[in-house]
Amino acid sequence: MDKPIVIVVGTRPEALKLIPLYCALQKAQLPVLLCATFQHTTLLQQVFDLFSITPDINLNIMQHDQSLHYLTQAIIEKMGTLFKLHDPSLLIVQGDTTTAFASALATFYKAIPIAHVEAGLRSGKINNPFPEEMNRVMIGKIATYHFAPTNLNVANLLNEGISRDHIFLTGNTIVDTLLMICDKIKRDELSIDAPIKAHVAMCKKLNKKLILMTLHRRENFDGKLVGMLEAVKEFAQRYDDVNIIFPAHLNPNVQKALKTSMVDLVANITTIPPVAYKELVYILQHAHWVITDSGGIQEEAVSLGKPLLVLRNETERPELLWENAGRLTGTNKTKILQDLETIHTQDTINVARNTYGDGHACQRITSIIKNIILESAPQKNYTEQNIKPLPQRENTHFLSNH
Ligand code: UD1
Repeated sequence: MDKPIVIVVGTRPEALKLIPLYCALQKAQLPVLLCATFQHTTLLQQVFDLFSITPDINLNIMQHDQSLHYLTQAIIEKMGTLFKLHDPSLLIVQGDTTTAFASALATFYKAIPIAHVEAGLRSGKINNPFPEEMNRVMIGKIATYHFAPTNLNVANLLNEGISRDHIFLTGNTIVDTLLMICDKIKRDELSIDAPIKAHVAMCKKLNKKLILMTLHRRENFDGKLVGMLEAVKEFAQRYDDVNIIFPAHLNPNVQKALKTSMVDLVANITTIPPVAYKELVYILQHAHWVITDSGGIQEEAVSLGKPLLVLRNETERPELLWENAGRLTGTNKTKILQDLETIHTQDTINVARNTYGDGHACQRITSIIKNIILESAPQKNYTEQNIKPLPQRENTHFLSNH
């Protein structure tokens, strides 16, 4: 068998954004293995179930309330073992998680080429989102090939001196996944959980505006998250024509903030355990607007034309602000309350946009891997010993030096 391409996923968003690529590479008859670090367990398994996929390799690393130090070392260590069993021609990582960064670093140590999906997103503030901004900057330095979702992402990479021969504009693979799931929901090919369906129906019947909320960023765990939730609580208590549905992340810090703020005690805020992706898409389809600090939901809300408030101080997805598809509200309690009232009273309506992708990103990436990357890959095996000193830029040496 030819050397495999290895795709690494660790968390829910990575799986959502890379499984369609795994399927596209398989369809193109390229040898490909799906490796799951299981940085997440429950949340990741839900995505595998949705696609009826079992990962080829399971690194099984999750610990309760794991630290970033633990995660990073465990992934590097286990990737080392993986490389003894498999000798990838290319390793693919996605986004900005610790799984993506640590596995890219481990791959760099073995001098194996790395492709980065969702490359070039930058908030410009190294601590925000934490540790994601630093993770993606470092992956940008390490990666050999960069699949950028938007023109802005391409420009960010060029600004950092990445060779333009190694940057490809593809769109974001999440739009492929989103449109596929929307299509399946429309055709009745996916069964949506009955309580979720009933909740959406109840809001319609009682003429309540359904609002989707997700909040889980690490940089807000130092108490800020409680204040943010209190702002939402105050808003919900003032307006009984809204119904806020809040699938709360399993991170223990999120669960604690939820209890401290007591949002779960307000009648028109419905706190529920994390929902599977098909339910999330279903809620999003029926939502009037969205409150979020998630990266993926920013892309999904814009793609479905749902106005949104981004409860973060920076966004690496400013295209949505330029297109007036959402607001960067921040994390200040008064400002959150103010923006919630504005979006509610103005009753903003948006149209669906292709800002982040058109649903064909995986097809483009597959074609680039097949016709450009694998075609031009050097035949010989690299080892730590036979890498020559680099004359120029570190992130382009795999192709240019040999
Ligand atoms: C991680 C990513 C973040 C991404 C988010 C999506 C990093 C540093 N962060 O954050 O970029 O937006 O995933 O969800 O990579 N837990 C479970 N079961 C699960 C998942 C999590 O119990 O299926 C709990 C565990 O106690 C775990 C904790 O959540 O220790 C934190 O998980 P972790 O992956 O470290 O961080 P996230 O906050 O999920």
